[in-house]
Amino acid sequence: MKKIAGRVRLAIIGAGGIAGAHVKGILAHREKVECVALCDVSQENLKTRNEQLGGGAALYGDWRVMLKEMGKDIDAVDICLPHHLHAPAILDAAAAGKHILCEKPMCISLKEADQIAAAVKKSGVTYMSAHNQLFMPVVTETRKLIDAGAIGRVLHVRSQDCFRAKLETFRGKWRANLKLQGGGELIDTGYHPTYRLIHLANSTVTGVRASMGRYYQEIEGEDTAGVQVRFANGVIGEILTSWAFALPYGTHQIHVVGEKGQIFGSGSTLYLLPMGYSEPAKMALPAADTFAEEIAHFATCLQTGARPVHSVEEGRQVLEIILAAAKDAKGWEK
Ligand SMILES: NC(=O)c1ccc[n+]([C@@H]2O[C@H](COP(=O)([O-])OP(=O)(O)OC[C@H]3O[C@@H](n4cnc5c(N)ncnc54)[C@H](O)[C@@H]3O)[C@@H](O)[C@H]2O)c1
Repeated sequence: MKKIAGRVRLAIIGAGGIAGAHVKGILAHREKVECVALCDVSQENLKTRNEQLGGGAALYGDWRVMLKEMGKDIDAVDICLPHHLHAPAILDAAAAGKHILCEKPMCISLKEADQIAAAVKKSGVTYMSAHNQLFMPVVTETRKLIDAGAIGRVLHVRSQDCFRAKLETFRGKWRANLKLQGGGELIDTGYHPTYRLIHLANSTVTGVRASMGRYYQEIEGEDTAGVQVRFANGVIGEILTSWAFALPYGTHQIHVVGEKGQIFGSGSTLYLLPMGYSEPAKMALPAADTFAEEIAHFATCLQTGARPVHSVEEGRQVLEIILAAAKDAKGWEK
């Protein structure tokens, strides 16, 4: 891959809700990245995002036209589209020789994942899975503590994300449709605790068991999932994720149990409880804008030639767990 010498010139494809967080991240790192084009079928969303940028981006309604017309004026795309459009946009961007940052999930089927792997390899572009919560303070610090041996061998990892979402958030929207979403809650919000689990267990997956339910939301898929994941290094992983209820009281986004102690926490508050102690030590970590960190990491990778922390392989691994969970839980709908 040819390293990018100056600022990375990005084009955002899909200028809806989450693109706002990406634009904020781009503006926070304007020394290394700029957004030169926006693409969306909604004129209103194009206008909103362009105003957020301070104006000046080239505006398009079709990413194929944008890739053709902008040509060498863009280095990379940042895909923030509904899930069913991720694979088509990734394949078009790779064919046009553009580096790719793509929101989660990478795609919605393993067939698409294989096509993406082949296309990215063939074109030689850099692909980064936009797994922003890898940059969450408790996740980065926990991984550092594990690597430093603070709790010895890791035995159990719990990774959770639960909240009660308003019905109008999803009712009648693309997320309520199984085909456009590629599933239910697990492939959306539940995607985050899944890649956090992989990152903290730090091994390959050997088995997946799951139960699902739809307790509140008016969507076709599940609104709640409990998943148990077995890893090759012996770690037992557990995911609990929901749009129907809040995080079980007293529990945390991540909780890692090792032979010599436990680490747990949420956001930027982390606790370390060595074995034999009754009270954990509390750490208030510096807060981070995980989207800004993710954008900066992507730009740095393009400027240095480094591999992004999560790329095609990890994007596929997360999808494998989610699809295996959906298969194992089948029958919950009845
Ligand atoms: N990392 C996170 O925490 C996080 C949070 C929310 C969403 N997301 C992800 O971001 C992606 C987008 O989600 P969102 O909440 O922004 O959705 P959204 O519906 O708000 O935005 C999607 C945008 O894509 C546009 N669009 C639809 N079809 C298009 C097409 N053919 N060509 C061009 N534009 C098209 C829509 O007009 C809309 O502006 C999803 O993959 C979602 O999972 C991630």
